[in-house]
Amino acid sequence: MQVRRLSLTNFRNYARLELDLPGGVVLLHGDNAQGKTNLLEAIYFLATTRSPHASQDQQLINWDAMQTDDPVVVGRLVADVLRPDGPRHLEMRLIVEERGAWALNGQGSFRREALVNRGKVRLMDLLGHLRVVLFLPEDVDLATGPPANRRRYLNITLCQVDADYCRNLSTYNKVLEQRNALLRRMAEGQTRGAADVLQILTEKLIEPGSRVLQRRAVFVTEMARLAQDIYFQDLIGGKESLRLGYLPGWAANGRQGDAGRANSDQLLRDGDWLQANATPAAIAERFAAELAAARPADLARGASTVGPHRDDWAIVVNGKNLGQFGSRGQVRTAILALKLAEIGWMKATTNDTPILLLDEVSAELDQHRRAALLAHVVEQVRGKGTAQAILTSTDPGLFTADFLAEATVLAVREGRVSRD
Ligand SMILES: Nc1ncnc2c1ncn2[C@@H]1O[C@H](COP(=O)(O)OP(=O)(O)OP(=O)(O)O)[C@@H](O)[C@H]1O
Ligand SMILES: [Mg+2]
Repeated sequence: MQVRRLSLTNFRNYARLELDLPGGVVLLHGDNAQGKTNLLEAIYFLATTRSPHASQDQQLINWDAMQTDDPVVVGRLVADVLRPDGPRHLEMRLIVEERGAWALNGQGSFRREALVNRGKVRLMDLLGHLRVVLFLPEDVDLATGPPANRRRYLNITLCQVDADYCRNLSTYNKVLEQRNALLRRMAEGQTRGAADVLQILTEKLIEPGSRVLQRRAVFVTEMARLAQDIYFQDLIGGKESLRLGYLPGWAANGRQGDAGRANSDQLLRDGDWLQANATPAAIAERFAAELAAARPADLARGASTVGPHRDDWAIVVNGKNLGQFGSRGQVRTAILALKLAEIGWMKATTNDTPILLLDEVSAELDQHRRAALLAHVVEQVRGKGTAQAILTSTDPGLFTADFLAEATVLAVREGRVSRD
């Protein structure tokens, strides 16, 4: 698929943008703080309904628009998407009402609206119409940052291709919230009738939770194979072992605490079990047993201590957790390999190519790795792995002649985009 037209109103530093985009390779270049990343963010937001930064959506609205006297301010993102099964017109509206209240105390009403082919849909139903793979410089945090980052990555990636996953996750989170509220009350001593309700809520977690676990375990297995090939054959040109391990939090329970920090062999073994026994029945049975075993810990802490909301995953190169032992360039290369592997994975899973968005990709890569990466991108576009790849850079001088011959080069300056 391809985004052929992008219209932005009051989005970040774009007061108004009407941009026609070609297919193939597009290079956006410009100085710092001109709007390159914001443009990728807009496309990503339409695809995932999320900002890549875990910040509040109100911050996406253009600051100047928030300074006007209008009581209502609307940020709009619109994309015309070309797909093999027909075009899609996608729109997202970010609506601030009672702007005065926002100005006064940061409180007012904020809501989002999604439209597909000009008809309103639930936010969740915007997913799947436009699919992207995004790489940002800060994505190295995926390996080195907290487990919440890695869970967010799994959730956003899987939600783009699998509506069932997204539904199961949402059901799971709702029950989890109720269960945690109950556990909190119980920890405070409100125990009348609570045990029965806890039992019911625990049972309600099993079905959606084990489906989430299963989907993630399969994803991690599939991605590991694809990422291994790209990392070693295409990016660094050597042979080592790269594996992705799913780390269920239940293995860490009562031992080292959080799955992300622990990363012991036990965690990897439990992850291997999940990845190898990924039948819904076997996982549901195990998850039920782990929930039962965690009951005393849950009651003591007043929160649910096992389940997909506590899990983690890791990139392991030559037996070492990259997040703990990798050099910065190594981590960056491995995360890049992972993102590039997502292209092949999405194509195989959905029968259509996602759009590749690479932000400041050459930063911190040595000359050799940079050239290998650019060659890989060009090859992807030529081989129809992706029909559109949009890259940004402050310095077009970093790009190979081969790459530039393939690319449409656009300049970004103060929230305006023009052809070179
Ligand atoms: N809500 C907003 N309203 C107006 N401007 C914003 C808003 N949010 C961010 N900006 C500004 O948009 C500008 C462009 O940001 P962006 O991250 O797209 O720059 P960039 O071209 O990618 O720069 P760099 O090369 O430094 O990465 C920044 O100056 C930023 O402060
Ligand atoms: Mg940027």
